[in-house]
Amino acid sequence: MNKVKFAVAGCGHIGKRHIAVIDAEPEAELVAICDVDQTKLKTFASQYEALRCYTNYEQMLAEADLDVVCICTPHGLHALMSIQAAYAKKNILVEKPMALTSLESEKMISAARENGVKLYVVKQNRYNTPILLTTQALEEQRLGRIFMVQCNVMWNRHQAYYDQSSWRGKKHLEGGALQTQVSHFLDLLVWWFGSIREAKTIMDTLHHDIEIEDCGVSALRFDSNVIGSLFWTTCVYNANYEGSITIIGEKGTIKIGGRYLNEIEFWDVQSYPMPTNLEFDDKPNQYGTYQGSSSNHDKLIHSLVDQIIHSRKGVVEGEEGIKSIQAIETIYHR
Ligand SMILES: NC(=O)c1ccc[n+]([C@@H]2O[C@H](COP(=O)([O-])OP(=O)(O)OC[C@H]3O[C@@H](n4cnc5c(N)ncnc54)[C@H](O)[C@@H]3O)[C@@H](O)[C@H]2O)c1
Repeated sequence: MNKVKFAVAGCGHIGKRHIAVIDAEPEAELVAICDVDQTKLKTFASQYEALRCYTNYEQMLAEADLDVVCICTPHGLHALMSIQAAYAKKNILVEKPMALTSLESEKMISAARENGVKLYVVKQNRYNTPILLTTQALEEQRLGRIFMVQCNVMWNRHQAYYDQSSWRGKKHLEGGALQTQVSHFLDLLVWWFGSIREAKTIMDTLHHDIEIEDCGVSALRFDSNVIGSLFWTTCVYNANYEGSITIIGEKGTIKIGGRYLNEIEFWDVQSYPMPTNLEFDDKPNQYGTYQGSSSNHDKLIHSLVDQIIHSRKGVVEGEEGIKSIQAIETIYHR
């Protein structure tokens, strides 16, 4: 295989980022895009000459010669569009959250297996420098037994953010803030500490005119017995304040912080000082009126291409992605 041929379905905020990073990746080729909104397609059609543009997703799957379809549409469409792609024998890279429910996620995993294709899930925060450092410390058991973890997602989303895309704030299409903002953090927590066995949650919608929660706290117990707390909100005044995870272990404490898990704010680990020669240069996705999570989609696409062409491993697949969906269900008590 010379280049991995990609299509992007959904050319909104994050679809644009997929298009840009695929275009910049030497071993990838962008062959088609799809959006129900013609105006979104026109912008890219004029930018990329050979690109095939579709308003009908099934037609794109039937006609375009492609290896991977990136699904960047509202959450409520992820399951159906992934299953359609699997039956069209295309590999899938689905944006987070992989689906609204674990039942849908299981169907996606089965469809991919039955059709002999891969189902990858976007988890670009795993490539953040502080996350790589912490994962290595945990894998090497440098912190000894882990007692507790605290996760804070204190972000700002204006009402205009919810009004901007018709699916946002809707239960059946977005799900909740856990799916949109917090799934990045939950992916890391369940990756490091196992499934959430128990959760006691209080949540509310205090500030926005939406069907989903904009504030919540949950006391958690993980399968590894680690006790944790999750504090999340999109109500912070004016701008994102903090996106952090603090780990309290027998032989060390680490706080990954900044606004989007982009800094190490505290590192005190027995006989394991933090390397001093590192650059913390993870940038956030910028969407004009608001700032998103880390923009490491370039690293993700690079790993995916590497995995497909050179048979490597590492990109999160459906069997791993479903774990954060199960965690969300436990926290919501569904
Ligand atoms: N990984 C990240 O950091 C990150 C950041 C932002 C968004 N996301 C995720 O990306 C997805 C999209 O979010 P967004 O903010 O880009 O939303 P958006 O509303 O900006 O874009 C969604 C696009 O999908 C299109 N669409 C809707 N139905 C379609 C269909 N049937 N076929 C083709 N196109 C269709 C819409 O017209 C729109 O252009 C969500 O899953 C979201 O959680 C991930």
